Amino acid sequence: SRSLRLAVIPGDGIGQEVVAEGLKVLSAALPADVKLETTEYDLGARLYHRTGETLPDAVLEELKGHDAILLGAIGDPSVPSGVLERGLLLKLRFAFDHHINLRPGKLFPGVTSPLAGDPKIDFVVVREGTEGPYVGNGGTLRTGTEHEVATEVSLNTAFGIERVVRDAYRRAQARDRKKLTLVHKNNVLVHAGHLWTRIFERVGREFPEVTTDYLHVDAATIFFVTQPERFDVIVTDNLFGDILTDLAAAVTGGIGLAASGNINPSGAFPSMFEPVHGSAPDIAGQGKADPTATVLSVAMLLEHLGYTAEAAAVEAAVAADLAERSGARSTSEVGDALAARVSG
Ligand code: IPM
Ligand code: MN
Repeated sequence: SRSLRLAVIPGDGIGQEVVAEGLKVLSAALPADVKLETTEYDLGARLYHRTGETLPDAVLEELKGHDAILLGAIGDPSVPSGVLERGLLLKLRFAFDHHINLRPGKLFPGVTSPLAGDPKIDFVVVREGTEGPYVGNGGTLRTGTEHEVATEVSLNTAFGIERVVRDAYRRAQARDRKKLTLVHKNNVLVHAGHLWTRIFERVGREFPEVTTDYLHVDAATIFFVTQPERFDVIVTDNLFGDILTDLAAAVTGGIGLAASGNINPSGAFPSMFEPVHGSAPDIAGQGKADPTATVLSVAMLLEHLGYTAEAAAVEAAVAADLAERSGARSTSEVGDALAARVSG
């Protein structure tokens, strides 16, 4: 019989609550002959306070033996900003070479968008995940003086750009509209911008059916709000992708619905699926968090592992639930309803 070895990192705040519901739905969705074997890792603020560690080497090694990772959320006000983000979340993305950070922006029927005119929104952002300003290439000088200096250097390699750009072309090729938009800021960030633009054009010759388009990131934020239907697949760097995907969430029903996958397409290391939202310490432990973003991340996990029909069933359950939503439900009520739809 088959098995799915899943590493689970609930993390901080609402991460715990939403992951529990994601697992409920995953169990309901998996074919009966697939054995779900989960290993839970208690990483995040608690471990940091207890031991000072964020991601012990032994845990990193163990994680490699899994088919995928499901992560809830990382971050707590009691831990200085950046410690868990860099030491845990980004460390995982870098160590496992999650260069494709996949973030769909889809407005489901029945979900109210803050945008006027009931727009049709269905795009996917392919955010580069292992380069850009996220590499931690920078430093400080003359700390504490009036002449203090801080740099944060964005790293862009031809190899890194080419692989994410080609992945985005493939995704565009596989979709109905076959349209790919490169978002950058090549009028100001000329070194990185021109490298991205050149590689985007060169790789594009392999995909004659894909229509291409370029937008500066500032203009892209306007179109996300005024004309979101113009987007199909978007490819962009790590930081622009971070910002754009929060905006994408905002126009498609909020951060409670936004899913993501940190993908290593080679399968050399496990890919990691997580809601885009954070740990929301202000509502943690109250059963108020919407687990839908985690459940949609579970659908992406299933799709990534080749459980295509099961992934579609989870997404359909979410779509049906969203279409009928009314009144407040607790985190576990939403999870139960979704699991019931998937099983039934
Ligand atoms: C996200 C988050 C992370 C990011 C932070 C927590 C490091 O905002 O997943 O979008 O910037 O990538
Ligand atoms: Mn973000």
